[in-house]
Amino acid sequence: MPTHDPTQLRSHRWFAADTLRGFGHRSRLKGMGFDDKDYRDRPVVAILNTWSDLNTCHSHFRNRADEVRRGILQEGGFPVEVPVMSLGEMLMKPTTMMYRNLLAMEVEEVLRCHPIDSAVLMGGCDKTVPAMLMGALSADIPCLFLPAGPMLKARWKNETLGSGSDAWKYWDERCAGNLCDTDWTAIENCIARSAGTCMTMGTASTMACIAETLGFTLPGASCIPAVLAEHSRLAVQSGRQAVAMAWDQLRPSQLVTPESIDNAIITDMTIGGSTNAIVHILAIAGRAGISLELDRFDELSRTTPVLGDLRPSGRFLMEDFYNAGGLSALLERLRDHLNLDCMTVSGKTLGEQIAGAEGINDEVIRTIDNPVSPQGGTCVLRGNLSPDGCVIKSIAADPRLTQHTGPAVVFDDYAHLKERINDPDLNVTADSVLVLRSAGSLGAPGMPEWGMLPIPKKLLEQGVRDMVRISDARMSGTSYGTCVLHISPESFVGGPLALVQDGDMIEIDVEGRRIVWHVDEAEAERRRVAWTAPEPKFTRGYGQMYASHVTGAHQGCDFDFLAGRSPGAEPDIF
Ligand code: FES
Ligand code: MG
Repeated sequence: MPTHDPTQLRSHRWFAADTLRGFGHRSRLKGMGFDDKDYRDRPVVAILNTWSDLNTCHSHFRNRADEVRRGILQEGGFPVEVPVMSLGEMLMKPTTMMYRNLLAMEVEEVLRCHPIDSAVLMGGCDKTVPAMLMGALSADIPCLFLPAGPMLKARWKNETLGSGSDAWKYWDERCAGNLCDTDWTAIENCIARSAGTCMTMGTASTMACIAETLGFTLPGASCIPAVLAEHSRLAVQSGRQAVAMAWDQLRPSQLVTPESIDNAIITDMTIGGSTNAIVHILAIAGRAGISLELDRFDELSRTTPVLGDLRPSGRFLMEDFYNAGGLSALLERLRDHLNLDCMTVSGKTLGEQIAGAEGINDEVIRTIDNPVSPQGGTCVLRGNLSPDGCVIKSIAADPRLTQHTGPAVVFDDYAHLKERINDPDLNVTADSVLVLRSAGSLGAPGMPEWGMLPIPKKLLEQGVRDMVRISDARMSGTSYGTCVLHISPESFVGGPLALVQDGDMIEIDVEGRRIVWHVDEAEAERRRVAWTAPEPKFTRGYGQMYASHVTGAHQGCDFDFLAGRSPGAEPDIF
């Protein structure tokens, strides 16, 4: 056993002092049934658990927390489980994105105000991942991330179903009159097959892969399906490693650097990851004090081949990815593109962590010579419709539409869209450009995943399955289609999207990275003068704080006052 100095532990300040406060801290632990041997001179390792009955993806987290606890005890730590807000994508409205920063604040403050020497962060469902990493970075206390892991693959009849993606697909078939109620119910019964996160390369899996590349997880953690025995073992190992991290004081600020942020972006591109990751990586970089522009994503996209053949942009699911060798095997093939010296929670560099990882199936994890696409899956467009930039997941778009000009069909907000989209009299053809506004951070609010606007029923019936769609919304990582997202500035604050009218010609040119609103400048000015700002959505509470401080999509949608770290902000203990 290496010798450690317990007086260096943060928790020592709470438990060791011969003061009235120290007496209080110790006596109350004793009231819980712990004696000195349990906690004195041991690292206090928190298990920050986002378990909730209302988070369908984390239903195994009670068991996993016990397994983490076991690992902490084995290594001589004192485990404490601390519940933090859960952000369950399926049931929270209007959108979990509205609460990502609230969870990030909670994680930061929970870490700071308690006698915690290190922590295992248990998250998985989309926004829980960036939120926990952001909070950990700002507090800068040693933290390891334990991803929930994906669900098992779903089976329906003779087909493999992927969460989200196949729900959209079969909903379209149902609307087109091609799917009976019995089949639709059968899909409902089987598409979520186990505990765990969406098993496509949606936002949860994308962010888990990014957490692993940033060095926040043990090797291979991002792809292990939630209900496998390997996932339980990962939980135990994570507990053990968190104890080592408390002694070694390996902090998030040592993991997140400009180089590791580039690795995270490269990972997002090579797995054909979710567009949501762009917003989250911008926010994570902001917490680390790293200046990052949207254009960096485009630069790295141009030089990164897509090696993960994963739905929704490819063919396979997370369980296939895991069986093929997982993220380590993919990154090993991409070695020459990565900054290999970046540190990880295992105490090894990323290069050491992936060294020799074997890719077992070249269909799922392609080789450098046979990529899914020679360039990354996501592009940043700019133009007079989106001066601050917007994004398109070109790899999940119909190639025939990535250079397209068509007349706008405009929906003022989501209610207007629902009311109008299936109107048989709607003046729309397959060449139209569907435009949704009031769907951004402030306008919706919370920038919901409305960006994959539904195809009008009458066009579905004609066999149309993709169209150009433009909005200031986000899109689910499990979505697909020619959807231009995150238009910035958003319409609610008077961005050009607010001024578009039915029939205006809009051009997208993905190769040229352009989005153009073909309007006469004098006419645009006339509309700008006539535009009136909408009423604020909130007059009190969290909503008002959110609306007053959330930054634009191109800046990561963090609160302006949360940028950076405050690691030295230790509470006084009098
Ligand atoms: Fe939780 Fe998709 S709903 S990860
Ligand atoms: Mg999602």
